[in-house]
Amino acid sequence: MQVLGIKTDLIKVGDDLVGALKKGMAAAGLSLQDGDILVVSESTVATSEGRVFKLEDVSPGDLACSLAARYHKDPREMELILRESDEILGGIPGVVLTLNKGFLYPNAGIDNSNAPPGYVVLFPADAQKSAMEIRKAMAGDKKIGVIIGDSRTHPLRLGCVGVALGCAGLEAVEDARGQKDLFGRELKITRKAVADNLVSAAQIVMGEGDEGIPAVIIRDAPVQIREVSSEIPTIPPQECMYLGALRSGPRPYTGGYDDLIEQAKEAMNDAYAPYSGFKVGAALLCKSGRIYSAGNIENASSGADICAERAAVAKAIASGEREFEAVAVVGNTPDPISPCGICRQSLMEFGKEIQVVMVNLKGDAVIASIEDLLPRAFTGRCMGLKI
Ligand code: THU
Repeated sequence: MQVLGIKTDLIKVGDDLVGALKKGMAAAGLSLQDGDILVVSESTVATSEGRVFKLEDVSPGDLACSLAARYHKDPREMELILRESDEILGGIPGVVLTLNKGFLYPNAGIDNSNAPPGYVVLFPADAQKSAMEIRKAMAGDKKIGVIIGDSRTHPLRLGCVGVALGCAGLEAVEDARGQKDLFGRELKITRKAVADNLVSAAQIVMGEGDEGIPAVIIRDAPVQIREVSSEIPTIPPQECMYLGALRSGPRPYTGGYDDLIEQAKEAMNDAYAPYSGFKVGAALLCKSGRIYSAGNIENASSGADICAERAAVAKAIASGEREFEAVAVVGNTPDPISPCGICRQSLMEFGKEIQVVMVNLKGDAVIASIEDLLPRAFTGRCMGLKI
C-alpha cells in the first residue's frame, strides 16, 4: 500500500478545492487509478466551503458566556460550539466534549489551527455530502473512494489518530464478525474501522501543521471500491463502553479497603435495631489512619434513628478527627447497600472526595466518591463560606 502526498497552494475561503487538488497532482506527476482512495483533510474542505468564522463577528449569548466562564474558553468560540452541537457532555478547562449527530468531538470540531489569526474553522456542514461531491468531481472514468479525514484522541492516550467524517465509494466500517481468529474461534464483536484506519495512514504523510499536504492518494489498499453512500456508522451512547464506564456513579470495588470492610461487618454486631431488625455497620477511615466504627441506633420514634454512617462520623468527630478518607458500609441487602440521603449530606460536610465502599453480606461491593453519590450538593460554599 502506498500513501502519496498531494501538495497544494494554501486553500482559502471559496477556493476551488477540486481544481487545486488536480493542479497539485499534475505538478507531482500523479493521476488517479482504479482502486485509489483520496483522503482530504476536513479543515481544507471546510475552508473551501466557507466554514470559516471571524470571532469578532460572533456575539455570544448568555448560555455561551456562562459555559465559557466555566470551561475557560472564549465566549464567542463557545457560542459557535453551541450552534454546532446537539449536546455538551462536560469538559475540562479549555475543552468541552460535544455530541453532534452521533459523533463525539472536542469543541464540536471547531479550532483555530490552520486558520488565520482571529478566525476559527468549523467542520464541513455535511462531510458525507462533500465526500460524495469530491468523488464525483475527481473520479473521471476511474473507480475511486474519497474520505474526509480529521484527527482525534482516544481516552487517556497521548497523540492524535485519524477519523473519517465522510466516506464515499467504500465501506467505512467492515464487519469482521464470523471470521475466525488464530485459534479458530469466531470473532463476535470486531468491526474494522477501515476509513478511520486509512485516515491514520494518510496522516503520517499529511502531518497536522504547515506541511502544505491537505490530501493524499492511498494506492493498493486491500479495500474494495464500491457504490456505497451511507453515513459513517455510529453506536448509541448507551452502548458505548467509554461513555458507560465514565458516567459518574458507583464503580465495581476492586480492593484497597478490605480491612475497613471487615471492621464495618463487625460493627453490625453493635447495631441497636430492635424495631426494623435491619442491622447496618459502618467503619470510617480518618486521614490520621485511625478507624471509627458503629452500628445503626434506632428509636421508638423512628425519626430519631441514627444510621451507622452518622454514628461513626459522630464518634470520629467527638474524638477530634476532622479529615476522612473513606467509609465502608455493610448491610444484609440484595445489592450493595446504599447510604441514605441524610448520611450522604453528613459525609459531604467533611469532603466530597471521601470514598464510600458499599457492601452486602454476599460480598457484592461498589465504590464511589461522596460527590458521585450526592452531585451538586448544598455545602458551606453555597453560603459563601470557605469551609
Ligand atoms: N440505615 C443505616 O444505618 N445506614 C444506611 O445506609 C441505610 C439505613 C439504618 C437506619 C435504620 O435503623 C435502618 O437502617 C432501617 O431504615
